[in-house]
Amino acid sequence: MRALLALTLFLTAVMPAAANPVRKDMPQADKTVEAAVETLLRRMTLEEKVGQLHFPSLAFPHAPQIEAVRRGEIGAMLNVVDPKFIRPFAEAARRSRLGIPMLFAIDAIYALKITFPPPLAWAATWRPELAERASYEVAREARAVGVNWTFAPMVDVSRDPRWGRVIEGAGEDAFLGSAFAAARVAGYRRGGLATSVKHFVGYGAPEGGRDYTGTEISTPELMDRYLPPFKAALKAGSETVMASFNTINGVPVTMNRTLVTDLLKKRLGFDGFVTSDFVAIGELVNHGVARDLEEASVLAFRAGIDFDMASGGYDLYLAKAVRDGRIKIADVDEAVRRVLRVKFRLGLFQQTAADFEALPRTVDETEVRQSARSVAQESFVLLKNDTATLPITPATRSIALIGATADSAQHDHSWWGPAGHTKPKTETLRQALEARARLGQKINYAPAFADACGREFSDKAAAIEAAKRSDVVIYNVIEDCDIQGEGVSRTKLELSGRQQELLDELAETGKPIVLVVETGRPLVLTKADKQVSTILIAWHPGTEGRAALAEVLLGDVSPSGKLPMTFPRSEGQIPIAYNALPTGRPWTGSRYTTGYVDEAHTPLYPFGHGLSYTTFAYDALVLSEPKMTIKGAIDVDVTVRNTGSRTGSEVVQLYTRQLVASRSRPVKELRAFEKMTLKPGEVRTLRFRLNAQDLGFHDDAGRYVVEAAPFKVFAGGSSETAVATDFLVTRD
Ligand code: GLC
Repeated sequence: MRALLALTLFLTAVMPAAANPVRKDMPQADKTVEAAVETLLRRMTLEEKVGQLHFPSLAFPHAPQIEAVRRGEIGAMLNVVDPKFIRPFAEAARRSRLGIPMLFAIDAIYALKITFPPPLAWAATWRPELAERASYEVAREARAVGVNWTFAPMVDVSRDPRWGRVIEGAGEDAFLGSAFAAARVAGYRRGGLATSVKHFVGYGAPEGGRDYTGTEISTPELMDRYLPPFKAALKAGSETVMASFNTINGVPVTMNRTLVTDLLKKRLGFDGFVTSDFVAIGELVNHGVARDLEEASVLAFRAGIDFDMASGGYDLYLAKAVRDGRIKIADVDEAVRRVLRVKFRLGLFQQTAADFEALPRTVDETEVRQSARSVAQESFVLLKNDTATLPITPATRSIALIGATADSAQHDHSWWGPAGHTKPKTETLRQALEARARLGQKINYAPAFADACGREFSDKAAAIEAAKRSDVVIYNVIEDCDIQGEGVSRTKLELSGRQQELLDELAETGKPIVLVVETGRPLVLTKADKQVSTILIAWHPGTEGRAALAEVLLGDVSPSGKLPMTFPRSEGQIPIAYNALPTGRPWTGSRYTTGYVDEAHTPLYPFGHGLSYTTFAYDALVLSEPKMTIKGAIDVDVTVRNTGSRTGSEVVQLYTRQLVASRSRPVKELRAFEKMTLKPGEVRTLRFRLNAQDLGFHDDAGRYVVEAAPFKVFAGGSSETAVATDFLVTRD
């Protein structure tokens, strides 16, 4: 509690006065919006104001909700994705006394009709511009059915793959996560959706890796590890923020004024609105901080939660709380002001009945598919490739394709059905390989399992036989395919079902095995790693993804993905990440240094790792200066050469370490990255600019400090870098 008290004191010291809606220095467009908001706000009754903060989920039958909208008692609706429902709601809002338009929200995160790989795979491309395009395409499809708000991007930094929701984010690093947060906000907004950056804050560090548990986070950790992607998303224009389910240091975020109002709204200057997560206000009773929904609603509102998602508490109790003085009408006005500001900024007041009659609009599927194909191609991470088993060349005459996953495509997470679309055409890996196999190349497919999740065998012997009569084996496995995302925490991360059992027997054949892993999180592949020559992480490749997979396996495309999250050797190592503190006893191999007696302390595969079909070498780093002041900057030249025989792409990563500081600092921190493609023998130098002001950190009181100190800078194709050199930051 002391840490948060320190942060509170600090925030009180630095907070600007309560925002005056119309400031002189505001751009004219903003002044127009603010004036319109104030005009409308003055006309609203208390019931209509509460209606703008009431955010239910679509009920069936929905006629009572349509009536409530017409009375001005509902301002937004969750999970209305079919135009035939959106139209009557929109019409009811138009016919209400003040005609305030509605927000229609869904989780349009990586799929509406065409399923993209999940956001963790986007991060594995290390190309934020691909994430911007992916978000744009998903947004276009959602906008075309009438949705205008998405609950994305999810930007929770996490070092814990036991937590199933890592699939929605950008992994373990705040810098990489910030780049993708900004890109995703830009893409969704360009596609016509308002965004909701989530889950504010610290949700990615649940105790035990178990969803919805709490977490203890110090102020420096909060400011330096978990907050940066939110700041990046707000800077990119996210109109809303979603508060998280969890407690931080014992206090549920949904009732945490220090975080929601003092930090987010005042210190960071966020002027959109904050929504609770699904029924999270009501869940304050479960947290043991409120006796009932009424008390929970007052606590949440006072903390700064503007929107009540699906708990119904604001609808039932907010007006009463105003009338009996527990809540000030000025605070209700401020919440409604934020909601109306977002609606005006989105242009919703300009919409006409004809706009809704025109739903659904068509979206050129070709472009969406091209984006989905590109993301998939660049997301695959080649963890190992001994004896260059990949790419499979025409010289390979027979390929055993093992695993029912390879002939399945049912695990795509999209809204095509509820949105009135038909399931988009897709290829299974088997179809994609058979369509692209070279003349004379034979694909010996054997499902081995009765189900796509590898739970029960249908014919193991046939699979072993197929392997024996083939030159190479592609074994397609999948994280237990019904458990991905929310509410799916696992204590064991090995291959699920009987997939490892089959691998044990396939390994006995002595054939080179390419293990293709479809997963939404890092898994523990330590045993498999010893049994196979090649591991390709395919994430969940999506509608265009298995075609992309076939292109990579057959060498038409070279893999270029890099891990956005560490792959541990064991669950016992978790939480694990590259940017750990050095400790007083760094591992030397002796007993009294930081390690385990029953497992290596290093990861199986580190953050930033990923191979190509070629190889790269790094020359020594060249600095423009060996030192800079705390206000200065230096250039770092990184020269990379393609030392292999194929064209390939490399993500050049730049890290720094502050060697001496007022608090222990991570052994590495990602500061820059850039993907480039080199032909065989080609050499290129990338120049990165390091600003001393970017090398700071927050202290216990939440102050950002940059210190004069010795530093190291590293560069390479993973966090286990290739080259390094020293520089100094001086006071002046
Ligand atoms: C869920 C999730 C949140 C999602 C919301 C609406 O519980 O935590 O990420 O956007 O409900 O579906």
